[in-house]
Amino acid sequence: MRVTLIGVCVGIVGMIALGLPGSSTAAPPHESSTDMRQRLIFAPTQRDMILTEMRLMLGSVSGIVQGLAADNLSAAEKAARTSGMVHAADTDPQIKTLLPQQFLELARQTHRGFDKLADQIKAGSSRDDTLRGLAKLTGNCVACHAMYRLDEAR
Ligand code: HEC
Repeated sequence: MRVTLIGVCVGIVGMIALGLPGSSTAAPPHESSTDMRQRLIFAPTQRDMILTEMRLMLGSVSGIVQGLAADNLSAAEKAARTSGMVHAADTDPQIKTLLPQQFLELARQTHRGFDKLADQIKAGSSRDDTLRGLAKLTGNCVACHAMYRLDEAR
């Protein structure tokens, strides 16, 4: 009896580990996707690098908005600077060769935009003007996300 129970447990654990038939957690095949954006294929570590940079930029946007909301302009400036040109992943020469020109151009514009915004805040720009600058900048995020997606090379 005990042996049977252990056998059942091992069986269940095994099925979970291997994935029950039809309940695999793997992503569905691409053919079923309705996402028509251009796929950029990268090695996992390169994709990680780009996505890490993306999260950094989202952190900057959040930091800028929070700084503006709290009237803490030096915090907003610091948040903007964090995503300036120095932190661009496309400075990695190998990643650069794999990205389309248009992507690179938009990415550069975005990093420069963060630097510009930081300079603007430092120079004493009003909250309204800073917000306008940020609005322009986030237009780049939306434009690029509408065109491209990242996939891992298998
Ligand atoms: C030059 C192109 C480009 C620009 C500009 C861009 N992104 Fe992205 N971003 C991408 C791509 C491509 C992905 C992957 C999307 C996918 O595979 O669905 C991505 C993914 C992300 C992700 C998801 C990260 C993750 O861990 O999955 C975040 C967050 C993000 N971007 C934030 C931003 C923000 C904020 C901005 C603007 C300040 C921005 N991005 C500008 C191309 C861009």
